[in-house]
Amino acid sequence: MDLEKKVSQLADLLLDSRKTMVLTGAGISTESGIPDFRGPDGLWSKVDPMYVFHAETFIYRPEVFYKTGLPLMGHLQTARPNAAHRVIAELEEAGLVWGVVTQNVDGLHQKAGSRNVFEMHGHLRSATCLKCRRVISWDRLVEMVSAGEIPPRHEGCGGVFKPDAVFFGDPLPPEFYDCCREVSKSDLLLVVGSSLEVAPVNYMPHLCKRLAIVNMGPTMEDDRAVLKVEARAGETFTALSRVLRERGVRLSGSAV
Ligand code: APR
Repeated sequence: MDLEKKVSQLADLLLDSRKTMVLTGAGISTESGIPDFRGPDGLWSKVDPMYVFHAETFIYRPEVFYKTGLPLMGHLQTARPNAAHRVIAELEEAGLVWGVVTQNVDGLHQKAGSRNVFEMHGHLRSATCLKCRRVISWDRLVEMVSAGEIPPRHEGCGGVFKPDAVFFGDPLPPEFYDCCREVSKSDLLLVVGSSLEVAPVNYMPHLCKRLAIVNMGPTMEDDRAVLKVEARAGETFTALSRVLRERGVRLSGSAV
């Protein structure tokens, strides 16, 4: 089936749904220049994530993250939202999307204008001292590391600063349970750009009434989806915005 037909079906699903949640992963941000994790050029082909980004490694050898992990994250701060982020924000404004649950730490949904964003894997806006819980900005953290402070420590208590992102082995933020509740009250969960390989977020598709997926490549839940759009997120949401306008939906219009 061609993209136009699939997008038209996606528009039907959105217009039929009383409450829609969007669940995003790294694939929504590749068109903003941020590599995904498990794609062919994904980050995990460059480092061993279970070591470099593991909470336990961070506690015993924080320099591993600061020397190997952090240098892979520089472009996250300068990336700009793409058409998919922008259309999702417009859909929220138009009342067609209730909120976005994201596994991404890039902050691009907020930059695009989405308001109800739940960051399941944390963010890169700040870092917290593991000893006294003092919080510093991401810019300050990078400044300390650039000045050779590896690992960066709080000068008062000597504790190590850890980014406010969820590492493997870390608990998820408590909002995870709120999100699960909202997804189970939704008519539609729209997954965008995620392989759905990582727990516990990949549990959410089991809570919703209907599941639709926009992803290039297979996901763990393709069999459960009432619609799978196998295309780039940017072109899919650009087309969706056009189709919804043709059907009389008022979108703010900056997206395309
Ligand atoms: N449009 C649609 N899909 C895309 C695009 C695109 N432009 N670019 C890549 N994809 C697809 C990839 O083919 C892949 O199937 O997006 C999916 C991204 O999957 P992952 O790399 O596994 O990313 P994600 O699901 O977000 O990973 C979850 O794993 O390592 C952890 O904490 C990390 O949050 C991350 C979690």
